[in-house]
Amino acid sequence: MNTPRFDYQRYLLAKRTVDARSFNMHVWNSLEKALASASHPLRVLELGAGVGSMAARLLDHGLLNRAECTLVDEIPENLTVAKNSLNAVDPNVTQFNVVREDAYSFLESKRGEKWDLLIGHALLDLLDLNFAIPRLLASLKLGGLFYFPINYDGLSTFQPEVDAEFESKILAAYHRTMDERVVDGKPSGDSKTGRHLLTALPAAGAEILATGSSDWIVRPQHSTYPADEAYFLECILLTVEGALKNFPGSDQNKLKDWLEVRRTQLANAQLVYIAHQLDVVGRYRG
Ligand SMILES: C[S@@+](CC[C@H](N)C(=O)[O-])C[C@H]1O[C@@H](n2cnc3c(N)ncnc32)[C@H](O)[C@@H]1O
Repeated sequence: MNTPRFDYQRYLLAKRTVDARSFNMHVWNSLEKALASASHPLRVLELGAGVGSMAARLLDHGLLNRAECTLVDEIPENLTVAKNSLNAVDPNVTQFNVVREDAYSFLESKRGEKWDLLIGHALLDLLDLNFAIPRLLASLKLGGLFYFPINYDGLSTFQPEVDAEFESKILAAYHRTMDERVVDGKPSGDSKTGRHLLTALPAAGAEILATGSSDWIVRPQHSTYPADEAYFLECILLTVEGALKNFPGSDQNKLKDWLEVRRTQLANAQLVYIAHQLDVVGRYRG
């Protein structure tokens, strides 16, 4: 079987339909309500904006009228896709500014500037919360809003069950790779980000207005996967494979067999994937 290639932009586009089913609507409704009473024009900052999926969703729901939005990401190819998908937007209604930079250097260089809404969508589980949370919140005006959806929270499962004991070892090792990940010499990631946010945010001066689960559930329907979700699943398998390659303690031969079985199930539209995640919306109180 040919191993597919991980194309990050295609993965982020494929993730759109999965996320759209998963966003917690209680959290989304709280965001909508808070934005309705916010003063405009609204200054919006999205860090780790990827291909602009959240901006597109907010626009579709009319939540970015009279807004100035800055999208920051460190990968230029992501921002090229974002720019293309947002170029039909009327600049008299919503202005977009796209910045290719590391989130922390961006925040450092804009220390004097404050935003009304900060977004980190599927971002915080890639960061070290102790380092990130105070820096992210400091970019907000007092009373400013943050919306942090899709934070991984320590549980994944693949169905139908195949060697459950080995799979639980794979997932435990996969979680360890997240917890021990180091990028540019800094710890970067936490496999239980969702639950940790619920104490880390208030400890840094934030009020949580709403939270709830936003689990990804990807399953075949009528013997096929919706939209590009088969590719999304291929990327999940590639991520597990990449994380565990050469990871101490993982049995590479058994891992290879496990991947083969899961890829065959995917090709036959039998594979189901669930990942537990949390969404959070709140205000910075200082
Ligand atoms: C999982 S993706 C999510 C992208 C997008 N928010 C979405 O959900 O479709 C994480 C994104 O954060 C970006 N990213 C990760 N760490 C970053 C950093 N330190 N500074 C800027 N961007 C970062 C990546 O390039 C990637 O686009």
